[in-house]
Amino acid sequence: MKVILFGATGMVGQGVLRECLLDPGVETVLAVGRSPTGQRHAKLREIVHQDFLDYSAIESQFAGFDACFFCLGVSSVGMNEERYRHLTYDITLAAARTLAKLNPGMVFTYVTGRSTDSTEQGPMMWARIKGKTENDLLKLPFKAAYMFRPAGIQPLHGVRSKTPWVQAIYVVAAPLLSYLNRVAPNYMTTSEQLGRAMIKVAREGYPKPVLESEDINRL
Ligand SMILES: NC(=O)c1ccc[n+]([C@@H]2O[C@H](COP(=O)([O-])OP(=O)(O)OC[C@H]3O[C@@H](n4cnc5c(N)ncnc54)[C@H](OP(=O)(O)O)[C@@H]3O)[C@@H](O)[C@H]2O)c1
Repeated sequence: MKVILFGATGMVGQGVLRECLLDPGVETVLAVGRSPTGQRHAKLREIVHQDFLDYSAIESQFAGFDACFFCLGVSSVGMNEERYRHLTYDITLAAARTLAKLNPGMVFTYVTGRSTDSTEQGPMMWARIKGKTENDLLKLPFKAAYMFRPAGIQPLHGVRSKTPWVQAIYVVAAPLLSYLNRVAPNYMTTSEQLGRAMIKVAREGYPKPVLESEDINRL
């Protein structure tokens, strides 16, 4: 499987990259980001790119891939709706439209979050925008698209959040997160489980397009 990974420097993306590099069925990983991952591996190739609304200068390198793991995303905390929509909807759809055009056989997987609002009408700004992003991704002409909605994610194997306050919470709450992962699997997953689940779904498919924490943990 040839994989394109967006957001490889983030907490979710680091976990997905680790699992891709370990998985013998993943042949190559092309990481696309605005900063390098700092990792070296025979399977890993990177493109550092700055304009995430326009891929015309690099799209010739986007063809021939089987899967995209789209882990680029931000927290809505402290952000107005316009900015959050730009970073969530506009950036994701710009990449996905380019990839769908070049890779009709691609499986696209996107990381949203628990309580994403598929109606696009609810009271929570972030959930409406993630819901619209999911809905519009599911209309694109990919072979298949899957929306991953983890709740809490326990970072393992040195994975760290790029968002300082999120990282601080994970450090302080590490023992609690381990416990929750055992007793409340509907609300917690690990970076390892999430990465492995994304690879498995890209390879084998899944009976439904939206996966909650319990689906991710079952895979
Ligand atoms: N962490 C959780 O517990 C959790 C739980 C549920 C859902 N999620 C979802 O998972 C997704 C990723 O979250 P995360 O925790 O991995 O976030 P993170 O650690 O803050 O990483 C964010 C990633 O997105 C990239 N990025 C952010 N803004 C960008 C921009 N303007 N242009 C290009 N790249 C940009 C970052 O690149 P740089 O390295 O260049 O900054 C980084 O790779 C989000 O959609 C989030 O809602 C996370």
